Amino acid sequence: MPNLIFLGPPGAGKGTQAQRLTQRLGIPQYSTGDILRKAVSDGSALGKQAKELMDAGKLVPDEVVNGIIDEALQRPAAKKGFLLDGFPRTVAQATALDEMLARRGQKIDHVIALQVPVETLVDRLSGRLSCPRCGAVYHMRDKPPRKDKLCDNDGTPLVVRPDDAPDRVRQRLSEYDTKTALLTGYYKARGVVRNIDGVGTPEEVEGRIIGALKL
Ligand code: AP5
Repeated sequence: MPNLIFLGPPGAGKGTQAQRLTQRLGIPQYSTGDILRKAVSDGSALGKQAKELMDAGKLVPDEVVNGIIDEALQRPAAKKGFLLDGFPRTVAQATALDEMLARRGQKIDHVIALQVPVETLVDRLSGRLSCPRCGAVYHMRDKPPRKDKLCDNDGTPLVVRPDDAPDRVRQRLSEYDTKTALLTGYYKARGVVRNIDGVGTPEEVEGRIIGALKL
């Protein structure tokens, strides 16, 4: 199974598509955002360190997320393919990932770069509802839960993420433009970038990804 990275701005649909693809392929999904949010809700030392930065829409320090991914890649499940969602996000993280993979004799096979115009990103994030327990993602207008504001999977009350407030979304888009967008060039030289139009229904976008990966 392939080793995959999902790259794209906030609201591009990384989490939505990552869940679909990992279910289809039977590989684990490692989302630094989900792992950090769980640490925040557990009140762990990691969560206390990350909360303020996340709520402000800023990136947490490279060494923190590098440690999370190094630990995840040690798991037996990661030996037969994995999907990284939200990591790497800086050139320093990408370099650290290269070292982690080289140590294990692994490499990245595809970087799926989701492309969505900024007005669509803002529209999607302004309507998002998330399940704090299982991480399922909804949209008030486009993908409402079956019961009002309760998760379809486990009945947990859904929340609006603190970093989905309009000023935080602007900050996150700025972090993406200045630090993360550079990664397309970083991976392009290796011939692994698959640019995917992220506009359309989740099913349409999934179909494009599957086509690009020749699955
Ligand atoms: P993270 O959780 O990774 O957030 P993000 O990158 O900003 O991405 P999002 O989760 O907001 O969006 P998404 O692309 O997954 O879209 P989704 O599928 O949910 O990171 C959060 C924070 O953690 C960071 O700001 C930072 O502080 C920290 N962090 C995490 N990783 C880090 C790292 N490596 N380094 C440093 N700090 C890190 O979809 C969004 C909405 O759109 C949903 O409502 C969904 O239903 C809807 N939608 C999705 N697809 C479609 C579609 N095709 N059509 C219509 N609606 C759609």
